[in-house]
Amino acid sequence: MLVIGLQGSPRKNGSTDYLLKSFFNEIDKRGVETQVITISRKNIKMCKGCGYCEKHGFCVTRDDDMSIEMYPLLHEADIVVAATPIYFYHASAQLKMFIDRCQALWSRKFRYRVKDPGSKTRKGFLLSPGATKGENLFEGLELSMRYFFDAISADYSGGLTYRSVENPVDFKKYPSLLDDIKKSADSLLEPFADRKKILFACRENACRSQMASAFARYNAGEMVESLRGGSTPSDEVNPLMVGVMAEKGIDMAFRKPQSIENAISKSKPDIIVTMGCGEECSFVPGAKRLDWDLPDPAGKDINFMRQVRDEIEEKVQSLINELSKSDSGRMKT
Ligand SMILES: Cc1cc2nc3c(=O)[nH]c(=O)nc-3n(C[C@H](O)[C@H](O)[C@H](O)COP(=O)(O)O)c2cc1C
Repeated sequence: MLVIGLQGSPRKNGSTDYLLKSFFNEIDKRGVETQVITISRKNIKMCKGCGYCEKHGFCVTRDDDMSIEMYPLLHEADIVVAATPIYFYHASAQLKMFIDRCQALWSRKFRYRVKDPGSKTRKGFLLSPGATKGENLFEGLELSMRYFFDAISADYSGGLTYRSVENPVDFKKYPSLLDDIKKSADSLLEPFADRKKILFACRENACRSQMASAFARYNAGEMVESLRGGSTPSDEVNPLMVGVMAEKGIDMAFRKPQSIENAISKSKPDIIVTMGCGEECSFVPGAKRLDWDLPDPAGKDINFMRQVRDEIEEKVQSLINELSKSDSGRMKT
């Protein structure tokens, strides 16, 4: 599973940085994959308000880090932790610029009505320091963050906000800080604990294993962590596959094929499901192996792709049913 942090302050080693680092220090101790992005160090252009994303589902700006790196990362993330100092009772301009570009994800969700595979289980969390004591100090920010998390399909799970903080040293006024962080980290990660890890593997990771992992995450993300990879990954996912998954309401945008080694480098699977193309899978001690005898839809017509999609959906569903029946999560052989 992946937890990402968005560092919205332009100030290095300031209060926001300190708060986010302390938070991720606790998350890291719990052994999950993490990535922190300092937004001010990224090349992110402002939203032009041109309406292109509402017509086409993608941002018109394709050559910056938002399109190249951040949209895929947001779709991949299980938990998004956004951190910002209070600037004029709101988020920093850096974070706000990032948020505005998420209009493209808003469009996919509300105009195109497709949901990314992580949308039912993703969580959002807020961290923010502000200098003054004002009672309403975080109100504007909180409202905005609710809408941001909704646009990226993350369930807003609250946050930690601290008044009277201008510099990291001011956190000394909050002796409960570390405790607050530990409790929040535990409650954020708790729903993702003890999930069975399933690797779906095929040759190119462009089609069958992409569909299987997406169905598993979308339909049962609370009980399985789904990984995907290919023995010889291709450069891009199959566009016909993206189309037939959209017919099912599932958004496969921003996905890239990856190698099996990469897929299992951070998480060791309990179950490995291959898709019938006889690919060589890395040896993972203790992992159960299943082979689904599925035809390769690459190069075939859309109806064939639909048939394979439906067969995969059924197979994923019966695997999930079997896993949920067995009390220890162990499958029958
Ligand atoms: C441009 C700017 C605007 C700010 N506006 C507010 C504000 O409206 N209310 C407030 O309490 N603090 C405000 N502050 C103070 C910061 O929120 C506070 O010092 C925070 O701890 C800075 O975090 P950082 O070290 O991560 O930059 C502002 C600071 C700056 C630079």
